[in-house]
Amino acid sequence: MDPKIASKWMEDAFALATEARGTTLPNPAVGCIVLDKAGKPVAKAATSKDGRPHAERKALDLAGSKASGGTLVVTLEPCVAFPGKKSPPCAAAAILSGIETVIVGTSDPNPHVAGRGIHALRKAGMKVVECPLEDRVPDFYAGFGRFLATGTPRVTVKIAVSSDGNVAAKPGQRTAITGAESRRFVHSLRSRSDAILVGGRTVLVDDPKLTVRDVAGRSPHRLVLWPSAGLPDTAQIWTNSARTTAFGIQERPAKLPSSVDWVRLPADGDHVDLAALVAWCGKQGMHDLLVEPGPTLLQSILAKEIWDDLWVLRSDAPLAGGVPADPRHLLPKETPQASRTLGPDQGRFWRQPNRLIPIPPLS
Ligand SMILES: NC(=O)c1ccc[n+]([C@@H]2O[C@H](COP(=O)([O-])OP(=O)(O)OC[C@H]3O[C@@H](n4cnc5c(N)ncnc54)[C@H](OP(=O)(O)O)[C@@H]3O)[C@@H](O)[C@H]2O)c1
Repeated sequence: MDPKIASKWMEDAFALATEARGTTLPNPAVGCIVLDKAGKPVAKAATSKDGRPHAERKALDLAGSKASGGTLVVTLEPCVAFPGKKSPPCAAAAILSGIETVIVGTSDPNPHVAGRGIHALRKAGMKVVECPLEDRVPDFYAGFGRFLATGTPRVTVKIAVSSDGNVAAKPGQRTAITGAESRRFVHSLRSRSDAILVGGRTVLVDDPKLTVRDVAGRSPHRLVLWPSAGLPDTAQIWTNSARTTAFGIQERPAKLPSSVDWVRLPADGDHVDLAALVAWCGKQGMHDLLVEPGPTLLQSILAKEIWDDLWVLRSDAPLAGGVPADPRHLLPKETPQASRTLGPDQGRFWRQPNRLIPIPPLS
């Protein structure tokens, strides 16, 4: 198949996976499309709620005999049998369906699968083509690998700063720092996350919605650290556009709207123990936690090294006399591992060494 056509179908399968993100935990969200012999789509599916049946099984069942001689487009390597596995293996289902070509977004970070699905397909005479959409598909599943290895999610931190390192013009003042392309990028980080965490003062000052709006995808579960000053019941994160959970070291505050879950966590000094919060996310089966901190939460995270990936989005304009993002100078001093131009802004990326499980290459 022409690589451009393969990429187009993978984009569609990836959109199905992104839309299902967060509903399939602890299983990963997978998107799948079956094309018939003539290249016409005959079935589309994503992993079911709570993880089963798998996307490939659903799409192949829907396609029936039309799959014969056709193509399976799937974001994650089809699974194989292994001890304790609850679902029937999808690689075997693909082989039995008469599919001839499989376009795969990435291999499976699950060490029980990790290339064995691809190997089984190739051994059965099927053509397997990799289509990672730059690195977006492997990145979508990288947190799943960390979750399987440690029981906790990948923690990605994003902070936007002015060219002179500030996050707001004045304390308590909502300030737009970066532009439209950075915002779209942040929304794409949200769409590949199961939950998004903010400090309570960000809610007081910015009153954010914390939803996915500028790109396609589901809004993640919103998590907020309850501040000592409390939060108004008019805050936008209480709206029902996504689920919200608030965390504190005390009993449930009387002011908290009844639709919002409350979780009391152990203390670390005067505040919630952030390691306990990340462990709680792991217990919910979450693979990816995005943190959008203000300076206070950022300093806590950097001091305790509770992060795996870090994005600093720097605008080209200064905010003289503003609120510094990093008063304790805890941001990494090393050269960033990657950078990205986002309109007038520059994104810089760091990854903690040896924390994420590398996804094995397909071939
Ligand atoms: N540029 C950006 O990317 C960006 C992103 C978000 C926010 N902001 C800006 O940052 C400012 C708000 O930041 P902020 O530093 O004042 O507050 P923050 O980091 O948003 O929230 C910190 C609050 O969360 C509570 N908290 C509970 N557990 C905590 C823990 N383990 N570690 C840290 N905090 C914990 C604390 O409440 P108590 O101390 O009251 O108990 C603390 O006041 C606003 O101006 C906002 O516009 C900028």
